[in-house]
Amino acid sequence: MSIRKRSFEERKSIQNHYNKQQNESGFKRRKSKMYRLRSLNNWIKSVLLDQYLEYQGDVLDLCCGKGGDLQKYRSLKIQSLVAVDFAPKSIENAVSRYNKMNPQFSAKFGVGDCFESGLLSFLEDGVCFDLVSCQFSLHYACDTQKRLESLFENASCRLKRGGYFVATIPDADLIIQKLKEIEGWKFGNNKYQIEFMKNEKIPNDKSFFPAFGTKYKFKLDEAVFDLPESLVHPPTLAKIARKYGFKPILKKNFHDIFNKFRKVKKYQELFKRLKCLNQKGGVDTEDWEIMGLYLGVAFKKIKATPHYNPEKLVRIPRCFPYTHENIVKVVKNTNENENNEQVVQLENEKQIVNEKKETQEIQRIESTQENQKNEIEKEN
Ligand SMILES: C[S@@+](CC[C@H](N)C(=O)[O-])C[C@H]1O[C@@H](n2cnc3c(N)ncnc32)[C@H](O)[C@@H]1O
Repeated sequence: MSIRKRSFEERKSIQNHYNKQQNESGFKRRKSKMYRLRSLNNWIKSVLLDQYLEYQGDVLDLCCGKGGDLQKYRSLKIQSLVAVDFAPKSIENAVSRYNKMNPQFSAKFGVGDCFESGLLSFLEDGVCFDLVSCQFSLHYACDTQKRLESLFENASCRLKRGGYFVATIPDADLIIQKLKEIEGWKFGNNKYQIEFMKNEKIPNDKSFFPAFGTKYKFKLDEAVFDLPESLVHPPTLAKIARKYGFKPILKKNFHDIFNKFRKVKKYQELFKRLKCLNQKGGVDTEDWEIMGLYLGVAFKKIKATPHYNPEKLVRIPRCFPYTHENIVKVVKNTNENENNEQVVQLENEKQIVNEKKETQEIQRIESTQENQKNEIEKEN
């Protein structure tokens, strides 16, 4: 199977997986052994959003899923929300949640691929945002450079200068470190498993991982079942962010976010309400390990936004209850995308060759330095 076909099949399996996920009852959720981990993740997302979102903000949620962050937006008193995901059933769930929650903000929901260029052309000219959020999803864009760039283009094109792009992503450095500590290509605990999908570009000695298309199967109890996820290469992420007018301002492991904000009074009430701690007043070891697999990242928009004119700002109109007919379907131009993907594949191949050269050069310099050090030690 060609790489392009495989990528396409994998995207379909991701879409099918999320389409099948249903909203659980509150009772079932509270009984689940994953309850505390979910609470911790939700608390961390709330803290991150609160750090960068101002009162009465306009928000774009890319890969919003079933609307798990709608309550957070209400608590943060946003003014409007545009939420997009490529799983139609998830969007329908999000719309139901929105209708049930007596929202104080207006919203527009869309079904579309957030990693395709031009996603937001369905919005009226003049609609702009103060914050773009992409939670636990950005890694799905990292199978090709083009898709990650399209995500940043979508995040940037309607974001006001001074606004923020906030995301939660797997911590690639830590994942690679864990992989190097074991023999083989699989690790995890009772609740999660990561298994690298070996290919000819990844050497057996684990010394090099291409910035795009390095994939592993991820399994998380009651949530994700062997879905292919792509490693997010942090320096490449920062480079692409800069290209789209952003300045990287935060890259923090969930453990550090937890330790820093756990003691902040403002966030303690929510922490208690979400019941983040176990009966012993701590976090279970397994949950702690899984939390540590993630990073909170934030980028500040520093370049001007052509779409933004404070005098011609257009707000999302209030539409309540939001009917399924109002869900926008973002259609893509398939031919153009297929051609693009062929070009992208070639670009990725070229990049891999360059990265390999860079890695070899670094290894050569390190080994020369090591030899020189040994010789000096011998002479002494
Ligand atoms: C782990 S869920 C996170 C959902 C939500 N952001 C949250 O934090 O609760 C990942 C979501 O990304 C969505 N997704 C994955 N690839 C996507 C794409 N190319 N375009 C739009 N949504 C995508 C999935 O449908 C799923 O809803």
